[in-house]
Amino acid sequence: MSFHMNYNTEPRGWIMEEDGFGARSIAKCESIFAQGNGYLNIRCALEESYVGQCRDAFVAGTFNKAMPDEVTELPNLPDVTELVILVNGERFSLDKGRIHSYSRKLDLRTGECVRKVKWESPEGVELDLCFRRFVSLHEEHAAAFQTEITSVSAPMELVIESGISSRSSNTGSQHCLDGEKRMLGRDTLRLSTCTVQSDIPIVVHCVHKFNKETLMELPVIERRRFVKQFRFQIGKGETLRMEKTACYHTGRDMRYELPDWPAGVTDSKPVCADGDALIEKLKGSSYEELLKMSARAWASYWKDTDIEIESSDPVDQLGMRFALYHLNIMIQRRDSRVGIGAKGMTGEGYKCHSFWDTEMFLLPFYLFTHPQAAKTLLKYRYRSLPGAYRKAAENHYEGAMFPWESAWMDDGEVTPLYGAADIVTGTSIPILTGMLEHHITADIAWGVWLYYEGSMDEKFMDKYGCELLVETARFWSDRLEWKEERKRYEICNVIGPDEYKEHVDNNAFTNYLAAFNLRTAAHVIGIMEKKWPGAWKNLSRRFNLEELREDFQNKEKSLYLPEPDKDGIVAQNEQYMGLEKVDLTKYKTQQGVSSIYEDYSQSQMNQIMVSKQADMVMLLRIFPELFDRETRRKNFIFYESRTLHDSSLSHGQHCVVASWLGMDEMALDMYRHAVNIDMGPNPSSSDEGIHSASMGGVWQCAVCGFAGLKWNGRLSLENHLPKCWKKMTFRLCWRGALLRVELTEGIISISHQQGPEISLCVNGREHILSEGGSVREES
Ligand code: BGC
Repeated sequence: MSFHMNYNTEPRGWIMEEDGFGARSIAKCESIFAQGNGYLNIRCALEESYVGQCRDAFVAGTFNKAMPDEVTELPNLPDVTELVILVNGERFSLDKGRIHSYSRKLDLRTGECVRKVKWESPEGVELDLCFRRFVSLHEEHAAAFQTEITSVSAPMELVIESGISSRSSNTGSQHCLDGEKRMLGRDTLRLSTCTVQSDIPIVVHCVHKFNKETLMELPVIERRRFVKQFRFQIGKGETLRMEKTACYHTGRDMRYELPDWPAGVTDSKPVCADGDALIEKLKGSSYEELLKMSARAWASYWKDTDIEIESSDPVDQLGMRFALYHLNIMIQRRDSRVGIGAKGMTGEGYKCHSFWDTEMFLLPFYLFTHPQAAKTLLKYRYRSLPGAYRKAAENHYEGAMFPWESAWMDDGEVTPLYGAADIVTGTSIPILTGMLEHHITADIAWGVWLYYEGSMDEKFMDKYGCELLVETARFWSDRLEWKEERKRYEICNVIGPDEYKEHVDNNAFTNYLAAFNLRTAAHVIGIMEKKWPGAWKNLSRRFNLEELREDFQNKEKSLYLPEPDKDGIVAQNEQYMGLEKVDLTKYKTQQGVSSIYEDYSQSQMNQIMVSKQADMVMLLRIFPELFDRETRRKNFIFYESRTLHDSSLSHGQHCVVASWLGMDEMALDMYRHAVNIDMGPNPSSSDEGIHSASMGGVWQCAVCGFAGLKWNGRLSLENHLPKCWKKMTFRLCWRGALLRVELTEGIISISHQQGPEISLCVNGREHILSEGGSVREES
């Protein structure tokens, strides 16, 4: 069975269309068509149920631990999407009868998903069905659904069951209690429940409206399910329209963060009251009216964020907008208590935990398009410091050691301890990243400095940034190991970005990033008293900052930073160059990912020269000027040939570096791979959710790669537009200035649209631009 996607639907570049029902791609489509606003996200599970379906609804921050021996995860909350439709007693299901036509379209412009089906029941009744839905970008608690059923061939009796179900689980683990069900007035259903361990009240409301009188309307209360059964008689050619509006409220809603509320509420009464009031308000509006308001919010997002691409291949444009769509629904822009999950909130994969993905892969996008959102993400790290202190203390280190996987702010490390099966031992592979993947602490520091460089937000530095930089540097200062025989500090026993290599010493990426962290913290301490007096006051109460500064400087100077060998190659880690070389062709040409696990156990993989993802290449990406061009080129070629791109984080970063090296074909190929990770033909690539970091990677391909965006004190751009692209335009925020950038073959034009004067370098030439000004450079 194949994956039925049509990328040419009009208006081209805006519509994701599934043009056939594919049982094998059910879960993938639920993820890629998911809708949301960063507070409430709903997977696009079809209304009628199928095997392999995963009906998820998530609200940011409602983390819960189902069982004491499990890790905390974002619970799958009660569902409002399921409909049972009975046609003359026969259940509507595409598994039976005949499908005459099928199309599901997600309109990226408005966030609305529309599915149209022409179906003939096994007893020969022909129906036209149209299902529409969206999660509001305007009213974050709300989602709306519209169902139209037309009887084509004969009159019919129609029964619809619709309501709220708390039968949801996360792959079997149930996070919510059965819940209290009640009707409010004649038409509103309310289910209030609570997470079993974190005790967060969850309240879901829904209300139904029809264009026709019901013959019968019956509330049905069952275990973990509260629905209404509606019965109709439909004449030939007649259309029944049902509109359902739902809203979600939880004890973690931002409103309870206001000064007069305790942080988070455990009493469901105020949560119910908020929901009662909202549903009362929403029920006065039609589906179309609610959609209009949400679509307006989407239009404003696109106005600021769209990247227009003119390419001979329409997927180049659609892939970019698809990424930008997901980048908008994965973030809670105003709530710094929550991060971004590795799968956003489009599936249960990675349990909605945040990784280094946030700072390295997503933060650049938010900083350069919506700097406030970037600040929110870093404040989340600041507010997670208690967990980072705890992790450091548990491991006998000073300072802040950030968890590899983070959930609620004070959870600390939440990486699971075991994963998939080991081909040799047949047991679960231990997951060591939570213990050994230490570079995340420096990655967060890198993100802090990037945000400061791009925003010049002194208040942020004063309140949060300085402390984050100092506390992360304190961790590294303690973490480094002095090797007397080599008279240098080293970082031993880590996992670098390449997770196919465990227990390695001196991973180049980790060491260079740790050095960056120490250097930046020392620099910041040097200017803190004058520049950020609040931070100075706060931190000097806790530490002798001058002593810390000296310590950071000394450690950084003596930290071992791997250099190119005689062939120009920088060892990814101390062990790498001595590993056994194997033929990787089979895995490099694989259809999916991780096929190497079918032949090698994790411990065997530690012994062979193979990388899962960008590691040294990631270092070339993060510090573009670290090595000369020839060294960069040699290392890119060396490592790319040994990299399987088994992580979705890999292609985008390779695209950027390839662009900088003038390897245009390779860069475009990497872009298309990145785009296809979720959109592409593999029918199960995204069953557990889309790949958030890859979405940020797609943006980086275009802006950092093809438009050559770099920053190091000042902005620089360079034209690397792929040959088959005629034009690319986008907007960019930098230090309060808003720029519009246009690239065509050999020409890059930048106009300064608003904000303060900035200096920038275009195709190697310096410019000062102020509002209304522009520059045009030919290469
Ligand atoms: C990658 C990590 C990444 C994680 C979450 C893993 O497969 O190796 O680098 O942080 O996925 O996206």
